[in-house]
Amino acid sequence: MTYEEYEREVQKHLTQRRFYHSQCVAESAAQLAERYGADVEKARLCGILHDIMKDTPPEEQLKIMEKFGIMLTEAERRNVKLWHAVSGAAYAEHVLGVADQEIIGAIACHTGGKSGMSLLDKVLFVADYISADRDYPGVEKLRILSESSLEEVMVEGIAFTIPERMEARLTLEPRSIDAYNEALWTLEEKRE
Ligand SMILES: [Fe+2]
Ligand SMILES: [Fe+2]
Repeated sequence: MTYEEYEREVQKHLTQRRFYHSQCVAESAAQLAERYGADVEKARLCGILHDIMKDTPPEEQLKIMEKFGIMLTEAERRNVKLWHAVSGAAYAEHVLGVADQEIIGAIACHTGGKSGMSLLDKVLFVADYISADRDYPGVEKLRILSESSLEEVMVEGIAFTIPERMEARLTLEPRSIDAYNEALWTLEEKRE
């Protein structure tokens, strides 16, 4: 499939607002890829596809995950926000036929992060925080940080979202803490 064909597939699954978000993430991901030396076209494709299941009801997402034999961890099962990343990766691979495992892997970890994130994983993760449609307080600071370091944005982004979940007494994703630690260690090593 061409990029435009993937884009049309994504559009079928999303509200107009979410489709616009996906287009903005695709653009941000392409720019970050260019800046940090990742594959620009892969990054753009990750961006357009990453939220493909986000407007799909959780029951249907569960069915998709079951169909393709995906087992959620306990922490994932108890955090519905993470499901669209896992079901979206499965849908992109098995239904849309995206064979590239780097792209599938980046979609799968775009919400929670994980240990050992690749450059492409980080590009998508950060693009989702700073895309042009985002307007939360502090987004400008993250956009500026994204010009010098992906890890800075990861640390700041996760440091914002984890306390938010803790305050609401919601389950934490241990892999987000791994992603936070490793990004922090990369920064510390650069400073040393
Ligand atoms: Fe997402
Ligand atoms: Fe997103």
